[in-house]
Amino acid sequence: MNPVELIRKKRNGGTLSQDELHAFITEYVRGRIPDYQMSAFLMAVYFNGMTMEERATFTDVMLRSGDVVDLSMIPGVKVDKHSTGGVGDKVSLILAPMVAACGVPVPMISGRGLGHTGGTLDKLESIPGFRTNLTIDEYKRVIAETGLVLIGQTDDIAPADKRMYSLRDVTATVESIPLIAGSIMSKKLAEGIDALVLDVKTGNGAFMQKYDDSVALADALVSIGNAMGKETVGFITDMNQPLGFMIGNWLEVVESIECLQGKYVRDLMDVTYVLGGAMLWLGKKAVSIDEGIEQCKSAIASGKAMDKFCELTERQGGDVSYLTNPSRYPSAENGIGVLSEKSGYVAGYSTMEIGLLAIELGAGRLKVDDVIDPKAGIIITKKIGDEVKAGELLATIFTDKSGVVQLASDRLKALIQIADRRVEPPPLVVSYVDAHGVRPWRM
Ligand code: URA
Repeated sequence: MNPVELIRKKRNGGTLSQDELHAFITEYVRGRIPDYQMSAFLMAVYFNGMTMEERATFTDVMLRSGDVVDLSMIPGVKVDKHSTGGVGDKVSLILAPMVAACGVPVPMISGRGLGHTGGTLDKLESIPGFRTNLTIDEYKRVIAETGLVLIGQTDDIAPADKRMYSLRDVTATVESIPLIAGSIMSKKLAEGIDALVLDVKTGNGAFMQKYDDSVALADALVSIGNAMGKETVGFITDMNQPLGFMIGNWLEVVESIECLQGKYVRDLMDVTYVLGGAMLWLGKKAVSIDEGIEQCKSAIASGKAMDKFCELTERQGGDVSYLTNPSRYPSAENGIGVLSEKSGYVAGYSTMEIGLLAIELGAGRLKVDDVIDPKAGIIITKKIGDEVKAGELLATIFTDKSGVVQLASDRLKALIQIADRRVEPPPLVVSYVDAHGVRPWRM
C-alpha cells in the first residue's frame, strides 16, 4: 500500500477498496502513517465524500481498532439512543431508565459537553458520587444486574476515532458527513448493541442547522447502522429552542427527575416518548412505535422509570437522597431574574448562543481542563409562541461567578426574541428515517 497513491486516488474523486481503506487506517493507528498524510486524506474525504461501501468499511475499521463489547450473554435485544446534541437535551436521563423499566436492556456510552452542547456524562456526574468511569467488566455487570448502564468512552473503545477526531479538530475537517457518521457509529457499535435509535437535531441550536444537512447526516447514520447488521432508525427533531426549560448539569438532572416523577414538560417528554416508543419497538417489546409510546407512558405513571433511575444511580455509586430530595443540593451563589422589556409573544431563541452563555456561567468547559460548576445554568420560563407581559420573568441565570452577572443577563435578554404577534412553535419531531428513506413524522 502506497499512502501517497491512496491519497491521490481519493483526492481525484476515486473510490477506495476495502483493503485500501483498511490498510491506510490500520497503518495510521500503528504509527506507520504520519499525521500529515492522514490530514491530507481527511481533507480529500471532506471534499469528495465517500460511497456507502466506503462509509461502512471506514466505520468497521475504526470500530475494530479497539474493543467491541460482547453483551450476548444478556438476554433480550439491547437498544441504545444517540443524539447529535443540543441545548437542554437531557433526554437520555429520562429515556434510558424509562425504556429499561419496560424490559429493554439499554447499554449507553455517552459523551461530555461538546461546543455549545451539554453532555450526558457531565449531567450524571453532577449527582454526588455518580461514577461514569466504569471498566468494561463493571459495565457488563451493571447492565446484567439493572438492565441499563451509562458510562463514558474508555481508551479501548474506537481508538482510531479518538486519534482522527483530534486531528480533524485542528485541520478543519470535522464538518464532513462521512467522517461524522463513521466517528459516531464506530463508538455506538462498540457498545454491544443490537439496535439503535438516532435523534438528529436540526435548527439554530444544532450542529446541523439546515434541515437538508440533518437529513443527509441521519441518512448516513441509519445506512451505516443497517449495513453493519444493527437495526437503526432515526428521527429529525427540532433544536430551535432549548429542550424543556432547564440548561446546566444539575438543573437538567432536576428537570429529568420531575419528568420521571410524572411532570409533563411538553417538548421534552414528546421527544422522549417517541424515541422510547421506537426503542421498545426495535427491542421487540412493542408491535409498533405507538404501542411502545403507551408502555413508556405507563412506566412513568407507575413510578417504575423513576425507581429504575434511582437503582442505576445507586449501582453506579451516586447518592440517591439527592434525587428524592433535590433541595438538599447546594444552590448557586447568584440567581438573577431576566425580565421582559415589552409585552408580546416569544418568537425565537438564539439557541446556540444560549448554550455558549451557559458554558461561560460555569456549566461547561471553555478549555479541556476547565472544571464544571454543576450548579451553573439557565432556566427559561417560556417556549416559542407563549405570551409574555412587560416586566414578566423570561429566564433566571445561576452562577457562582459574580463578575459576569449583569453582562450575562443583558446578553440573555438579547437572545430571546419577542414579537408583537403570536408565532407558531416549530414542529418538534419533523421526520422519521429508516432503511427505506426519510418521511414526515406526524405530530
Ligand atoms: N460527535 C462525534 O462523536 N464525532 C463527530 O465527528 C462529531 C460529533
